Amino acid sequence: MDSFVYKNGKLFAEGVDVETIAAEVGTPVYIYSKATFLDHLKKIQTAYADIDTTVCYSVKACGNINILRSLAEAGSGFDIVSGGELFRAQQAGADMSKIVFAGVGKTDKEILEALNAGIGYFNIESEPELENLIALCKKHGKTTKAALRVNPDIKYDSHKHITTGVKETKFGVDIERAIKVYDQYAANGVVEMSAIHVHLGSGGKTITPYVEYVKKVMPLVDALRSKGHTIDTLDLGGGYGADYESGTVPSAIDYASGIVPLLKAANLKLILEPGKSIIANAGIMLTRVVFKKTSGEKTFVIVDAGMNDLIRPCLYEAFHFIWPAQVDERFMPQKRMKALKVDGAEVVDIVGPICEGTDFFAKKRAMPPVARDDLVAVFTAGAYGYTMASNYNARPMCPEVLVDGDQYTVIRKRQTYEDLVELEK
Ligand SMILES: Cc1ncc(COP(=O)(O)O)c(C=O)c1O
Repeated sequence: MDSFVYKNGKLFAEGVDVETIAAEVGTPVYIYSKATFLDHLKKIQTAYADIDTTVCYSVKACGNINILRSLAEAGSGFDIVSGGELFRAQQAGADMSKIVFAGVGKTDKEILEALNAGIGYFNIESEPELENLIALCKKHGKTTKAALRVNPDIKYDSHKHITTGVKETKFGVDIERAIKVYDQYAANGVVEMSAIHVHLGSGGKTITPYVEYVKKVMPLVDALRSKGHTIDTLDLGGGYGADYESGTVPSAIDYASGIVPLLKAANLKLILEPGKSIIANAGIMLTRVVFKKTSGEKTFVIVDAGMNDLIRPCLYEAFHFIWPAQVDERFMPQKRMKALKVDGAEVVDIVGPICEGTDFFAKKRAMPPVARDDLVAVFTAGAYGYTMASNYNARPMCPEVLVDGDQYTVIRKRQTYEDLVELEK
């Protein structure tokens, strides 16, 4: 479910006409629906209610502190990958005991910041990292908890750049080596190694790899326990599908119905790290048509957002449904789909103004005809949209707006040209 719907031909975010937002704050702009991301969080919390589960929303998906604050108030913890994300979580008033910290290259500075903050778990990605964490704890008189990230070597149907749970990626420790790591390091006196972490990648479309990896990890839990190690928590990572196309991915209940029965008898606490499945379709990027032009057989719709604002199509060949914010009855989209066939649509490339051939949002896409100044919505842009945005081409970062019912708030202002050079003075 999401709360971006057309009413009388006009796109609304919950109770707010997106045109009103564009008129006040300009374009491009990211618009988020609070009801949508809270609904997604609630559905996950409910689906796993039979097990002691902590949902740790993945900050890298969308890290605005106002969004994090709302999620924290609804009981979410956070999955972080840097000192900066820890700071964001702190600014949002997060419960530090519900923070898990992943990443293959945590620096000493970041580790100390996390130790001082008292986070829940370090998700350990290698033996040298574990040795360093133990050494830092001893040096600074700290204790903490850790989960070893194991790489289950499971095929995952997603783009190669966002598949992390197969062998020969930089993430985690080969599952075959895990027992050796626990045997060698568990009795260290400062880092309690009581959990296992697995994360397959991002952009999953079926529950199959999740069921497969739980089946692969449970024998490891048994083996570790039989050797006397205390394993009380399993962190299953994120990567659960999001509706880039309507109704194409499993729901939270679908995932839970595959996973929970495999865990119920094991007396394990569960951590989940969803990003996309909470925030992706809780956000759109709204942009305005600058020009339309033809080149050979092609028609280009040039909009005022560029790959610096949303890089996913260029980086991952990601699909985003794109549709005008105002349409007549013929063009009301019933579904968001790759090959939506609508009589009277025009086939266009939707591109940005940046001087790169990769600056596109869609190619050969059927869309209702648009003209200069029309507003166009890029749907399902909430995850890895703003967090991957940059100032490339000296373009100020666009604003973020949070809609709650019939109210909206600018939760990040548009950068100014002055902001662009401020740190260079
Ligand atoms: C360790 C870890 N956890 C969670 C996530 C969130 O993934 P998603 O946004 O696909 O749910 C990621 C993203 O790649 C990740 O690397």
